[in-house]
Amino acid sequence: MFMYKGKERLFTIRRPAVIVLAFFLLGESFAAEACENTLGSSVSAALGEPVEHYVSSIVSPDGSGLPDGGGSVAEGKQVYETQCAACHGIDGDMQGNRLVGGIGTLSSARPIVTVGSYWPYATILYDYIARAMPYGQAQTLTADEVYAVTAYILHLNGILSDSAELDALSLVEVDMPNEDGFVELPGMGHK
Ligand code: HEC
Repeated sequence: MFMYKGKERLFTIRRPAVIVLAFFLLGESFAAEACENTLGSSVSAALGEPVEHYVSSIVSPDGSGLPDGGGSVAEGKQVYETQCAACHGIDGDMQGNRLVGGIGTLSSARPIVTVGSYWPYATILYDYIARAMPYGQAQTLTADEVYAVTAYILHLNGILSDSAELDALSLVEVDMPNEDGFVELPGMGHK
């Protein structure tokens, strides 16, 4: 009698647990599959058709390779809100994909790593956007648009005023908050 009760109890306790576990495992494998599919198609779409005006040279921290052209924070706001905000948040602070904020938090217990808090040079922000963004439509922005949206992201980070404009000369002059946060390795280039 005692044994029987014990088994019954064991059974009633375990059955829901097994069902929950089964759902969990099923869910996991569906999620993994969905993730793989999305990843596969977005990787193949990551490099959109390069447009004719796209300047393919790599921009160095010292600004070499920067193309002619320029853009303002105001123009960049337009580019940002139509082509970037969906993935990075209207103020650049979308959870998990933020570009803005966190300045001064790197040595804290909860560092927030963003373009503003981490990246040492504004020039490489231009380079990254020109070559890799908007994600899925990469290399479709004009040089003017890249200068403008670079200016806007720096403005959102409080690094440039709302009336700022950027071109090849002024971009090199931008001081990034974490510029001195890196050590120079012997033999490696530095600005
Ligand atoms: C479809 C979504 C999507 C759109 C649209 C998009 N991005 Fe991104 N962006 C991403 C993802 C995803 C990453 C991370 C890529 C990685 O780490 O390989 C990223 C990374 C970045 C980074 C690097 C951030 C860091 O700290 O490493 C910058 C800068 C950036 N995007 C700027 C832009 C700009 C500017 C635009 C608009 C012109 C834009 N993005 C549009 C999805 C997007």
